Amino acid sequence: MSVRVFLNGQIVPQAEAYISIDDRGFLFADAVYEVIHVYGSHLFAWDLHMIRLTEGMQELGYAPVDLGALKTAAETLVAEAGTPESSVYIQVSRGAQPRAHLFPPAGTPATVLLWVRPLTPFSPQLVQQGVDVITVADDRWTKVWIKTVGLLPNVLAKQAAHERGAFEAIFVRDGMVTEATSANLFIVRQGRLQTAPVTNYILPGITRQVVIELAAAMGLDTELRPFAVETMLHSDEVFLTGTLTEVMPIRRVDGHPIAGVGPLSHRLLAALHDRAGRPAE
Ligand code: PDD
Repeated sequence: MSVRVFLNGQIVPQAEAYISIDDRGFLFADAVYEVIHVYGSHLFAWDLHMIRLTEGMQELGYAPVDLGALKTAAETLVAEAGTPESSVYIQVSRGAQPRAHLFPPAGTPATVLLWVRPLTPFSPQLVQQGVDVITVADDRWTKVWIKTVGLLPNVLAKQAAHERGAFEAIFVRDGMVTEATSANLFIVRQGRLQTAPVTNYILPGITRQVVIELAAAMGLDTELRPFAVETMLHSDEVFLTGTLTEVMPIRRVDGHPIAGVGPLSHRLLAALHDRAGRPAE
């Protein structure tokens, strides 16, 4: 059976899933999205993702969508995929209308898309050795807390990282670290975690929130305070958090080695896997 996706209330073969050329997600990036990590059949932190999706839609003035139908579709398609790990991608746009900047008339249906794709976990060696990252200027708009599909700065920064042999790019605004192209960032200094506070300049990551909770359960405080690139370079550990990135330690920033890869990031990753019900390696 060919892969099926959920589009506008129905599960259809992907080859038959069409979106209008007038869709505002396509024309204006007028759409929000979510990515959910699925461990076995467990849709990890589903409710938190739905809260963030709803908040973004409210901020942009979208009509509500049927979250129950989304969950049923996700469960059905996860079962069909049948892979040990997968990701759910959800995208909601303001709908389709002949191109005009003004919002479409009230009652224009949103375009609601959901698909499930297999996920290949990172190799234990990669997590053990850590990844290299580069820093780039944070030239995104000032409402990045809304998870819109307008990701061109993220795409360009990630590609720049790749072309320099790095795994991720870290955004820097006015000398302060904000986040990565698709992950949040933590530093560890003297056994304390620190990450940028939630403002309009970062995406309030679900994994970031879960990691703060997991750390607290280990007796570790997280300071929510901005930090400079220099501070990051001289930290004991630096790591990324994200739905697809999980907890990924950083080995070098712009070629500058970080003092340690683990052990805290490795402990937090194990705790995350434990919380998600993922079998140990
Ligand atoms: N990205 N910051 C940005 C800019 C992101 O795009 C993401 C997630 C995160 C981490 O958030 P969370 O822990 O909720 O996944 C932080 C998704 C995975 C993506 O675009 O593929």
